[in-house]
Amino acid sequence: MLDAAAYNPYLSPGTAPMFSYRHAFHAGNHADCLKHFILVALLRYMEQKDKPFSLIDTHAGAGAYGLDAGYAMKNSEWEGGIARLWQRTDLPPALADFVELVRGMNSSGKPTFYPGSPYIAHKLMREHDRLRLYEMHPTDVDLLGKTFQNAGRQVMVTRGDGYAGLKSLLPPPSRRALALIDPSYEDKRDYSQVVQTLKDSLTRFATGTYAVWYPLLPRPEAQRLPDRLHAIQAEWLDVRLQVSRAGPGMFGSGMFILNPPWTLRATLTECMPVLKDALAQDEGAGFQITTSDMAPVKREPFQHSRAKPAPRTR
Ligand SMILES: C[S@@+](CC[C@H](N)C(=O)[O-])C[C@H]1O[C@@H](n2cnc3c(N)ncnc32)[C@H](O)[C@@H]1O
Repeated sequence: MLDAAAYNPYLSPGTAPMFSYRHAFHAGNHADCLKHFILVALLRYMEQKDKPFSLIDTHAGAGAYGLDAGYAMKNSEWEGGIARLWQRTDLPPALADFVELVRGMNSSGKPTFYPGSPYIAHKLMREHDRLRLYEMHPTDVDLLGKTFQNAGRQVMVTRGDGYAGLKSLLPPPSRRALALIDPSYEDKRDYSQVVQTLKDSLTRFATGTYAVWYPLLPRPEAQRLPDRLHAIQAEWLDVRLQVSRAGPGMFGSGMFILNPPWTLRATLTECMPVLKDALAQDEGAGFQITTSDMAPVKREPFQHSRAKPAPRTR
């Protein structure tokens, strides 16, 4: 069993030139809430069959984060994310399930810790399921390794490129897999790599479920990404949450899911209006759910950016 307090919340600022992105700055923000609530829903669906599955997390981060110290305090992004859901008792079941998981790691009753995708996956998976984690940042992969050092064969932590890692693991032995592809997009090659990785993954394992997180940003690569994802010849669902008017920085994010569970659309249709209202920063907030078999299924005011590109933020 993972102990939330075992995660090191006091990360000292890293100086590695190649890896300036640290997810701890953004832990629990609106983008994490969208991504992690959907991850919980996907895992719940995977658990409905007894057959084991592999969860492959190509960009794992540090595993979990302290909110009251270190990087997370710098901009307190979680105040515009999980803090707004924390006290709610009226959430639809799938959102409540996610918030309950976060509450469960905070025995003090205050939001002190926030889970990363590895924590969520490990918490929800069964003994016979497998968790495969890839992370490039030396500090974060160290933390991951320490956290899962007693997890045995169920969890494998690899310092290395998650795109190549995913390729090497497909098809999985159990023929059931969920992959989370969650790059920082610090490197603009990520925009092409996610598309290429999805196409390649489908040739290796056509029935896997693949979830990609992406930012809503004015930079041209980000603006083009949804169309490139929608052109993939497979069943998909795309959900975008815009939290503010389009501006020079990140104004929301999306999750694109290849081979989504058939239940996901209904879950999102129920949850997204609530999530949008809870996380809205101004009147530009909106959401959009699109699927491969039809035009947008549900949409509330959604703007496209005309602002000038700015350096990437998350
Ligand atoms: C957005 S964070 C991951 C957050 C995590 N998935 C979560 O939800 O808690 C992206 C991570 O990917 C790492 N990274 C960047 N490029 C990578 C690559 N090619 N392979 C593996 N990890 C990478 C970064 O160091 C960063 O920690």
